[in-house]
Amino acid sequence: MSRARVVFLPCDGIGPEVAREAQLVLEQLAPGVEIEEHLLGGAAIRATGNPLPPETVDACLAATAVLKGPVGDPEFDAKDVRPEQGLLGLRGALDTYANLRPAVLGEVDMLIVRELVGGLYFGAKGTREDGTVFDTCEYHPRQVERIVRRGFELARARRKKLTSVDKANVLETSRLWRRVVDELAPRYPDVEYEHMLVDNAAMQLHSNPEQFDVLVTENMFGDILSDLAAAVTGGLGMAPSASLSDGGPGLFEPVHGSAPDIAGSGAANPVAMLRSTALLLEHGLGLPDEAAALTAAIEAALQTTKTPDLGGSATTSELGAAVRAQLPVDAAATVS
Ligand code: NAD
Ligand code: IPM
Ligand code: MN
Repeated sequence: MSRARVVFLPCDGIGPEVAREAQLVLEQLAPGVEIEEHLLGGAAIRATGNPLPPETVDACLAATAVLKGPVGDPEFDAKDVRPEQGLLGLRGALDTYANLRPAVLGEVDMLIVRELVGGLYFGAKGTREDGTVFDTCEYHPRQVERIVRRGFELARARRKKLTSVDKANVLETSRLWRRVVDELAPRYPDVEYEHMLVDNAAMQLHSNPEQFDVLVTENMFGDILSDLAAAVTGGLGMAPSASLSDGGPGLFEPVHGSAPDIAGSGAANPVAMLRSTALLLEHGLGLPDEAAALTAAIEAALQTTKTPDLGGSATTSELGAAVRAQLPVDAAATVS
């Protein structure tokens, strides 16, 4: 078996700061894993003019898994070529359609399963002759089926409750979504499922988040609801994600963005990135013991060391060092 290879994409803003901590943790926990750094987003635009250089796509497609920091830089916001296009292109190229965004704190333990390569983000867009600007929300039934199936399967492995979130009172794509959920449900008789309109889901996520187990939803609803879920479970600095395809390399990244307001100040919380690294160890590299060791080390470190977003005064690297200090000495994986 060839050596596991992780493509590292530090990206923009606080990305390199939190990615550094993830790299140190990965080197300590899984020294047999090869790490290869590539460019994506604003960093790639600056170096090559392209937010998604072809070498990055090739390296990611050939990798065991991809670990990515946030993209985004205000410098490019008004430009035609933007960092975020690189991220969407990479998600599309890897076909990582299943974006898992866990949100856990105390009694709250939910998993948002967000469709990641369809909907408004990937539909036809442009400007008509009369000046009208449009984005289109499109879903093929097969695109809905594969993500809804993931939702049911993940719910089956947890507390067996699935909430499908849509806007079926208005949108055709949501009516398709609801139909697909109803058609697939009989195959999962052990999973209790419900439909919920997205506006109500936002309110329920805020007011009664304990009710949720797995939520499955389309791309843009999932984007918005996952920031809200992060906010009710410790903040954006804590929220990781895993984006999975059918058999190809997974893409692991925090839910948060490049946080230009705090970039360079040492205030970035590295936990979302480190938890994404734990998801990579588990789902990307098949190292559940190392993933559990990292998760436990993060929890232990947070007892004494907190970044400003958590009410403390520790820096990014101090919290990273506190996590590494909690890792078991003999945890080094023998990935060959
Ligand atoms: P953001 O998530 O970057 O920041 C929102 C707020 O949360 C800011 O106040 C920020 O300081 C804080 N925050 C975020 N991560 C933090 C962390 N790890 N530690 C402490 N505080 C943290 O959202 P935004 O400001 O709306 O977006 C900034 C840029 O990031 C945009 O260009 C956007 O496109 C991009 N973005 C990228 C990704 C990604 O790559 N997956 C995700 C979201 C946003
Ligand atoms: C996220 C981000 C991205 C998204 C942006 C940067 C394209 O907000 O990963 O949540 O909307 O998917
Ligand atoms: Mn987002």
